[in-house]
Amino acid sequence: MKISFFSTKSYDREFFERANQNFGHELVFYSSKLNFETRDIIKDSPCVCVFVNDTLDQEVLTALADNGVSLIALRCAGFNNVDVRAAYELGMSVVRVPAYSPNAVAEHAVGLMLALNRKIHRSYSRVRNCNFSLQGLLGFDMAGKTAGIIGTGRIGQIVARILKQGMGMKVIAHDPKPCPECESMGVEYVDLTTLYSDSDIISLHCPLTHDTHHLINTEALSLMKDGVMIVNTSRGAVIDTCAVIEMLKSGKVGYLGLDVYEQEGDLFFEDLSDKVITDDVFERLLTFPNVLITGHQGFFTEDALRAIADTTLQNVTSCENGKPCENLVTPDMVVNK
Ligand code: NAI
Repeated sequence: MKISFFSTKSYDREFFERANQNFGHELVFYSSKLNFETRDIIKDSPCVCVFVNDTLDQEVLTALADNGVSLIALRCAGFNNVDVRAAYELGMSVVRVPAYSPNAVAEHAVGLMLALNRKIHRSYSRVRNCNFSLQGLLGFDMAGKTAGIIGTGRIGQIVARILKQGMGMKVIAHDPKPCPECESMGVEYVDLTTLYSDSDIISLHCPLTHDTHHLINTEALSLMKDGVMIVNTSRGAVIDTCAVIEMLKSGKVGYLGLDVYEQEGDLFFEDLSDKVITDDVFERLLTFPNVLITGHQGFFTEDALRAIADTTLQNVTSCENGKPCENLVTPDMVVNK
C-alpha cells in the first residue's frame, strides 16, 4: 500500500525504510506537518502516517477522505490529535502503536526526577565552567519519600516499579482502572485529593482527555505539598501551564520536569535556535532554575523506534488484507472528547 508520512525526520525514514524490507509498502516521506494548510497534498495514497503534533480534525479528515484516504496510521500511542469519531463517520480506520516501549518513557520520567532533584542540569554547566561550588545544588533522598502516579497504564506502572523497587519510595496512585501488577507490588490507590496532599513527587501518565485537560490547575496545585515536584511526560495540556508558573513563582511548586508542553506543536522537533520564540509562556518557564524541559523525547530510543516502525507497518498490512487489527482506535475509546 502507498503510505504518505507526515512530520518525518531522517531517523523516521531510516527506521521505516529498514522495517519495510519485511513488508514491501510504498513509502513517501513529507517533512511538513499534516494540518489545514497541507491537507490537500495527498492525491493518490490510501494511507497517511502521522505523529503527535499533526492535526487531524474534522476539516482535515474530510479533505483526506475526499482525496481517497481510508486509513490513518498513527506512529504513536496517544490519539488526542485525531477526531476519531469524524474519521469513522467518513469511513476511515484509525490505527496506532499502543505500546512500543513503555520503558523508554518511564525511564525518561525517572531521569527527569533524578536530574531535577540533584540539579544535574545545573551542575553540568557549572563544572564545565570550573565552578565546583555546591551552593544551590542541595537535593533530597528519594528513598522513603512518597511518589504519586496519575495513570498506572503501561508507562505509569513501570515508573511505579522503578520508584518503589528501585528507589525505595512509597508509591501511591490514582487511576479509574487500578492495575493488578501495581496492587500486588503494594502500590496504594487513593483519590486525587489524597494523592495531591501526600506526594513529594507527582508523575503524570494518563492520556489527554476531556477529564484530564488541565487536571493540574490552580485548585489541584493548592492541595499539594509545599515544594512538590511535578513531572509530566504524558501530554502538555494535562497541566495548566499558566497556573503552574504562578505556583513556581510562589515556591509552592519546587521542581517541574516537562517532556511535553501545551503549545509544543509550534516548537518541538524543530531547530529554532536562530529564531525568535514568540511563546511568552514557554519562555517564562525557561527562566526558572528548577524547571527542566525536554522536547518530547521520552519515546526516543532505538528500541522504541524499531518497534514503532514494525507495528505501524504491520497495522497497515493487516488493514490492507482485511485482517483484524488489534491496534484499531475506535470511537468508544474516546472519553468525552
Ligand atoms: P495506557 O493507556 O497504557 O495508560 C493510561 C492509563 O491512564 C490507564 O490505566 C487509564 O485507566 C489511566 N487514566 C485514564 N484517565 C485517567 C484519569 N482521569 N486519571 C487517572 N488515570 C487515568 O497509556 P500509556 O502507554 O501508559 O501512555 C500514557 C500516556 O503517555 C499516553 O496517553 C501518551 O499521551 C503519553 N506518552 C508520551 C510519550 C512521550 O514520548 N513523552 C510517548 C508515549 C506516550
